[in-house]
Amino acid sequence: MPENDNPLVAELEAVRAQALGELDTMSDLTDLDAWRIQYLGRRGALTQVMRGIGQLPPLQRPEVGQVSNDVKTVLETAFDDRVETLKQQRFATTLSQEQLDVTLPGFPVSLGRLHPTTQILREITGIFADMGFQVYDSREVESDLYNFELLNIPPYHPARDMWDTFYVNEKVVLRTHTSPGQIRAMQAFHPDPIRVILPGMCYRYEQVTSRHEMMFTQVEGLAVGEHITMADLKGVLENFARRLFGDNRRMRFRCSHFPFTEPSVEVDMDCFLCNGQGTGCSMCKESGWLEILGAGMVHPQVLRNGGYDPTVYSGFAFGMGPERITILKYGIDDIRLFFSNDLRFLEQFS
Ligand code: DAH
Repeated sequence: MPENDNPLVAELEAVRAQALGELDTMSDLTDLDAWRIQYLGRRGALTQVMRGIGQLPPLQRPEVGQVSNDVKTVLETAFDDRVETLKQQRFATTLSQEQLDVTLPGFPVSLGRLHPTTQILREITGIFADMGFQVYDSREVESDLYNFELLNIPPYHPARDMWDTFYVNEKVVLRTHTSPGQIRAMQAFHPDPIRVILPGMCYRYEQVTSRHEMMFTQVEGLAVGEHITMADLKGVLENFARRLFGDNRRMRFRCSHFPFTEPSVEVDMDCFLCNGQGTGCSMCKESGWLEILGAGMVHPQVLRNGGYDPTVYSGFAFGMGPERITILKYGIDDIRLFFSNDLRFLEQFS
């Protein structure tokens, strides 16, 4: 074949020959990359040659474009082939050098388990489910209106101190208790009767200590209907405590105050460590009793806020902290353990 008298075509062919020659000798993926940049890159050899196209007589130009495309395709294909060959070679070497003994024992898979709070939550929801309560999920980010005001805690109310929390803005808070879910459940179910429990996370502006966390779980309970009395509340809670802590547990209802219930009570269970004896017992601080929850008859105004007429309907509500119950059940001395992700702690609950 006579030599091409188009100087750029000749140059392109020279580039092709040189590039292919170099490629054949390469055995390293990093070198290959450098090669790709050198010949095919934006400032690579092909581009450089093409720069001269403007100096050619117009009749010679189309041929240069054509040849340049061909060379580019040839180089790209050769590059891909070379990469593939190298990868195959490498794989073959690995296979021959690293031998796998499939008869060796595998690594033991460590089994996960449920977090103690999840376990107790399941136990609690199971017990209430048997009594006809369904789980109602309510939001963790609440409005001031639901977390406080509709529960009879207006802005100036001293009870706000006890339930101080994290404010997203002036009107939006991380809920301090599951009680706002009562209003949401009432508004969702009214005018039907209600039997729900509301488990979930709560948050408080707390100095974190072995006894106080700034986040914890609560389980709220709510029953609304006609003719619901305090006797129903006592029956439900006694049944609950016996199933969770044992048949012979005794309970005590102490007068208390919550803005959203009237009357309000705090409920204690006789100490299972000293069997209510008290003397010398560190669990109940020698009182013989352990406080397990707060409860009461739903305040008429709260019923109204939920859409129920308090002259027709009544209801009871209660709220407990599952971590506290686990603490009591297992004699745990630091609530921070629940969120510290320490396997030595978590592995004790199987
Ligand atoms: N929300 C209360 C708290 O966080 C607990 C509570 C008390 C809930 C009495 C209730 C109730 O539903 O009736 O301390």
